[in-house]
Amino acid sequence: MGGELLGRIDIPKATAATILIVFLGAAVRRRYYSPLSDIPGPFFASFSVIWQLWHIIKCHTEAAMREMATGLTRQLAGKFVRLSHKEVSISDPAAVREVLQSQMDKANWYKVFSMPDSRYENTMSETSYKEMNRRTRNVAAGYSLSNVIKGEPYIDKALGLFQTQLDRRVASGSSIELDKWVNYLAFDVVGESTFSKSFGFLEAGHDIGNSISNQYKLRLYIALIGHFSWAHDYLLANPLIGHFNLQPSMHVFDTSMAAVKKRSESVETRNDMIELWQQQYRNHPDRMDEKEILAAAVANGSADVDIFKMGAGADTVSCILQAFCYYLLRDTESLKLVREEIDNASLSPIPSYEETRELPVLSACIKESYRIHTPVGFNLPRVSPSPDGVTVCGRYFAPGVILSVSPWVIHRQQSVFGSDAESYNAQRWLGDKDRAIQMEKYMIAFGTGYGSCPGRSLAHMEILKTTALLIRDYEWEQVTKGQVWTFETYFTSIPYNWPVKMRRRRKFNA
Ligand code: HEM
Repeated sequence: MGGELLGRIDIPKATAATILIVFLGAAVRRRYYSPLSDIPGPFFASFSVIWQLWHIIKCHTEAAMREMATGLTRQLAGKFVRLSHKEVSISDPAAVREVLQSQMDKANWYKVFSMPDSRYENTMSETSYKEMNRRTRNVAAGYSLSNVIKGEPYIDKALGLFQTQLDRRVASGSSIELDKWVNYLAFDVVGESTFSKSFGFLEAGHDIGNSISNQYKLRLYIALIGHFSWAHDYLLANPLIGHFNLQPSMHVFDTSMAAVKKRSESVETRNDMIELWQQQYRNHPDRMDEKEILAAAVANGSADVDIFKMGAGADTVSCILQAFCYYLLRDTESLKLVREEIDNASLSPIPSYEETRELPVLSACIKESYRIHTPVGFNLPRVSPSPDGVTVCGRYFAPGVILSVSPWVIHRQQSVFGSDAESYNAQRWLGDKDRAIQMEKYMIAFGTGYGSCPGRSLAHMEILKTTALLIRDYEWEQVTKGQVWTFETYFTSIPYNWPVKMRRRRKFNA
């Protein structure tokens, strides 16, 4: 009898029905019976990460976040928005202090940055507050301002090459894809600073082997798989992939490690970041694992392997250099002011950090670029701690809830930046010093707190010198005047497709 009944049941259909019921049950529970149920958000976000995945695929997470936070989708206006069954985004400026400057661990999303495989945790992929502090201490000397200043001649070398290449294009009268050139510059500087070795993009004058443009696949992988970080261990971060050479770049890994060792034995090695990290390892082998050295180089985006050119140090700088040039074309008053300031400053042929670091109008234009086109377009997520949970911006969150803050949303808060917060206005930083200090507290382009960017000194020096050189020596206009640029956000929001015509202003010392 039982056997007959079993025989009549369509097993595949029954399995499908069971799975559907389980999924529906979970969705209903997450949407209606979760402690986060009362927090508004898009429908699909109330029970899954589908909404986030959709906006990653559409390449504009930053715009979706802004739209919700500014209440353009009116019923969603408010300081909390539910982004998934377990994530809440907070637009209240107080979240800068209460979330990012707290000791909450980073969310598992960051684990996807462990490259070349899961054995190589770096400060980006590390999620534990405690462990991250240990790792950060180990690599801090390499990123310090004093070390960056020692490396200034190598940045100058890259900038000299950048200028030579621009001049060739200016002389030929061809249009210039500034996005590509600043990208080459940013990558070569990261290579020099970390590894004493430029990637050679400026010298070659093109994207060698399409290694930069091909990175979009890896960017998409990171953005999507970050939401299923457990899967990363079975995919790109699976050591077996390297072992069996299944991922084309992995075989270079051991070679890179050997190269790192060899160069530290050479008397000619200069004090680049790797050298300082090696010194730290030699002095404190009890505090540091040798693998951390390569992992840190990977995080910067500097190792001689295509997959590594994904790091944090180049795309971000390229975003700001581009935003600086793009937005000044739209704010002619600020362009005039910054040109006057630079022209009166008698800068060296390659402007030095010392000469450029205290020019107020230049600084204002750079700050406004950080604000209006923040390189990191994703939310920065932290996790409500066990066992007590946390109260943030007046609301309690149970342990495990992901609390995230979008730099794009914070940077457009009218309560902080004024009623014109949506527009580029470099002059908001000039004049009223107290207001500038207040606004500065909410500038989170580099993140803030224990997870903030260690490369900010290098980035800032490079940006100051490059922008000063561009302003002093060139004029530029878009080939199609007023054309809106294109950018896509997979963690970073890198613009492209806005060719310019450039003209030399005057030869230095001419
Ligand atoms: C305009 C330039 C840059 C911006 C806006 C920027 C921004 C950021 C942000 C927002 C984070 C993540 C913070 C978080 O998750 O809370 C980060 C992390 C990181 N950045 Fe940058 N960055 C820039 C340049 C650089 C450069 C030049 C380097 C290195 C050469 C670098 C190395 C790193 C590393 C290694 C991390 C991982 C986190 C850590 O170690 O604490 N960044 N950056």
